[in-house]
Amino acid sequence: MTEKWWHDSVIYQIYPKSFNDSNNDGIGDLRGIIEKLDYLKQLGIDLIWLSPVFSSPMKDNGYDIDDYYAIAEQFGSMEDLEKLIAEADKRGIGIMMDLVINHSSDQHQWFKESKKSKTNPKRDYYIWKDPKTDGGAPTNWRSIFGGSAWTFDEKTEQYYLHTFAKEQPDLNWENNKLRQELYQMVNWWLDKGLAGFRVDAISYIKKNKFKDKKINGPDGLGSIFKASANQPGILDYLKDLKKETFANYKIVTVAELYAEENERMQEFAGDDGPFDLVFDFRHVDLDLSEGSEWFKARDWDLVELKERLNEIQKTYDGKRRATLFWENHDQPRSLNKYLNEDEINDYSIKMLAAVFMLQRGIPFIYQGQEIGMSNVKFKSIDDYQDLATHGLYQEALKAGYDKEEVMEVVWRRSRDNSRTPMQWSAEKNAGFSEAEPWLKLNPNYQKINVEENLKDSNSVFYFYKELIQLRKNSPYQEIIVNGSYQPLLESDSDLIAYFRKNSEEKLLLIANFKNRKVDLNLNYQVEEMILSNYPDYDYRDLKNNIINYQLSPFETILLKVK
Ligand code: GLC
Ligand code: CA
Repeated sequence: MTEKWWHDSVIYQIYPKSFNDSNNDGIGDLRGIIEKLDYLKQLGIDLIWLSPVFSSPMKDNGYDIDDYYAIAEQFGSMEDLEKLIAEADKRGIGIMMDLVINHSSDQHQWFKESKKSKTNPKRDYYIWKDPKTDGGAPTNWRSIFGGSAWTFDEKTEQYYLHTFAKEQPDLNWENNKLRQELYQMVNWWLDKGLAGFRVDAISYIKKNKFKDKKINGPDGLGSIFKASANQPGILDYLKDLKKETFANYKIVTVAELYAEENERMQEFAGDDGPFDLVFDFRHVDLDLSEGSEWFKARDWDLVELKERLNEIQKTYDGKRRATLFWENHDQPRSLNKYLNEDEINDYSIKMLAAVFMLQRGIPFIYQGQEIGMSNVKFKSIDDYQDLATHGLYQEALKAGYDKEEVMEVVWRRSRDNSRTPMQWSAEKNAGFSEAEPWLKLNPNYQKINVEENLKDSNSVFYFYKELIQLRKNSPYQEIIVNGSYQPLLESDSDLIAYFRKNSEEKLLLIANFKNRKVDLNLNYQVEEMILSNYPDYDYRDLKNNIINYQLSPFETILLKVK
């Protein structure tokens, strides 16, 4: 049996601005989500993680909150949110909200007060420091969106710290009053009947030494990661947060965390840690170069990808659970990251789906992933809306790269790749809105959309549904949810393979990551063919013997073996 109510859950992430627009102003909204609950029910998910819908000036699409107790008008009202919770609940779906408490918006009342004077009671809710003797920023830290992490305030002649954009000042967790206000707010939301929280950028709440870091870019700045990610003392804050809030509710929490040393990630997850789950980005960031090389695509191969996936499984082994994901609103689409453009087809898309969904852990599906949405290549930088994309673009130009080179980086890595409006149909604006959407559509919506997927029983959508059903409602439910994970063929450069095992049974997943036939030589007796991405295949031979079996391009199979 599963130990926790959420152990067999499948979570679906909604980026509200891009999901479905109910009042035709070009912006997705809460009522739009309610309209699509039946669709999500059909897919079979248990929980929705809603990216932020709180009141916000929307510099970072809601990750800059100016009132934690209000809903952004463009998304609807508090009643809409309550209705969403109730309507989802009727369908057995829980709502998780996004908790953004490393920083607020610079338009939050607290910051407005904090800015007023050095003696304002809210001054200490944020992190203010004097300039260096030369008048420059207190440290050389680079903000995650580019440029210095400090902004000078003329009036009080101090700098404030912002790990992200200057409109997102970091909250000062050293201040007990601030912490109490945050706890109160968290409990206020939990009392509305949420199923949990995804906790944003939480690794940065503890700052220790305000010292320069080694310069690692043409901008003369140093990495803020090294200065403020998971600093000693952070766990005390997080455990207190859990004790005062999460621990008193039947919820699930998942934290966005970065750690310099990967093994440390496990301290944050599970019963003994402050969160139930953490997002570990080792496998999705394997195409990123470091420091001044960040703009270059980092070379990787399948063996390395497998290493990272296997390490993650090891880190969250036993009582902990891994988060299983390829995509979110900060990542480009997985198809373009893991496949070459000419390799993207229904077989390869399903291959990627099976590889992550059948591992041990809690799967997260990002909106549109279940129909095979892919990256965009807008011609002009002006077509991009994401502030991080613009930040990096400017930085790269300053560093001397020409526009063409920089656009390549934008196409590969812009967060807007995953934020283009959801493709519901081949109709005008992909059925997302009657009005022109806030961000351009991916032109492939004529072919790739929900309506088409629902018509074709072999579609990517139905494959995802099948994968979800295996976890929720199948003879293999127990082993897929709880069984141990054991990789094999680790040094093979074409195939991904792993076992899922419990005391009685053994399942074997084999995926051909290549767009060509690959020979398979394994000595196990096949008892049953559970799943394949080649629907009309005749697997009789395989059942007799899987030694000397030849896999087709991207062929992926799940077998029960002896
Ligand atoms: C997280 C969010 C990202 C946001 C940032 C600042 O990384 O996922 O979208 O821009 O935090 O809140
Ligand atoms: Ca709208």
